[in-house]
Amino acid sequence: MQFIKKYIESSRAAAAAPEAGKGNARLLMVDPESLFNFSYGMFLLTSKDGARDNGCIINTAAQITVSPLKISVTVNKANLTHHMILKTGEFALSILTESTPFRVFEHFGFQSGKDADKFSGYDDVGRTSNGIRYLPEHSNSVIAGKITEFHDYCTHTLFIADVTEALILSDEPSATLRYYFDNIKPKPRRENGKKDEVL
Ligand SMILES: Cc1cc2nc3c(=O)[nH]c(=O)nc-3n(C[C@H](O)[C@H](O)[C@H](O)COP(=O)(O)O)c2cc1C
Repeated sequence: MQFIKKYIESSRAAAAAPEAGKGNARLLMVDPESLFNFSYGMFLLTSKDGARDNGCIINTAAQITVSPLKISVTVNKANLTHHMILKTGEFALSILTESTPFRVFEHFGFQSGKDADKFSGYDDVGRTSNGIRYLPEHSNSVIAGKITEFHDYCTHTLFIADVTEALILSDEPSATLRYYFDNIKPKPRRENGKKDEVL
């Protein structure tokens, strides 16, 4: 906290007298934890390649423009969902609600479709009009997208899409990344003073 106080003081001083502050040692830091304070939503991003359905949890979906109605999703290149979206050019986005149980995040976010058929025996599903699966029970909205551009960012691809369908499914509040960490993800248990890791 001492560092944070000094950081705020030094940034105030720099703002008050930018010229005088030139050359002064201005405190700089990048705390990755601060990015958790973005009010990201929580989503299931799904795709369909022929008979194969798949999906993964993401927090990086956002609206870009209203007219035309465009959204973006950012997906790790290692994900099967990335491969399927790149190939088919289409996806569905389920906006997950606060009551979504941890098992849904585990099922879609902690295992890859490369190793498991995530929709095999999974009953809570509907299909958007582009034929892609979504989660009616745990979503307050579903949005279908058709890719118009994609941008390469080393480990991830930023996909830009036209919204082809968008429906409100319930009035339940959307889960945020912060809500997920505070209320959905189980806290690590401590046994014998040791932390029991929970992903
Ligand atoms: C809370 C949470 C947020 C996540 N956010 C993203 C994200 O924004 N982008 C991404 O590519 N993966 C994200 N992931 C990781 C993927 O869901 C995970 O790698 C998944 O196993 C990929 O599955 P797939 O290979 O079947 O596509 C997130 C996972 C969790 C649990």
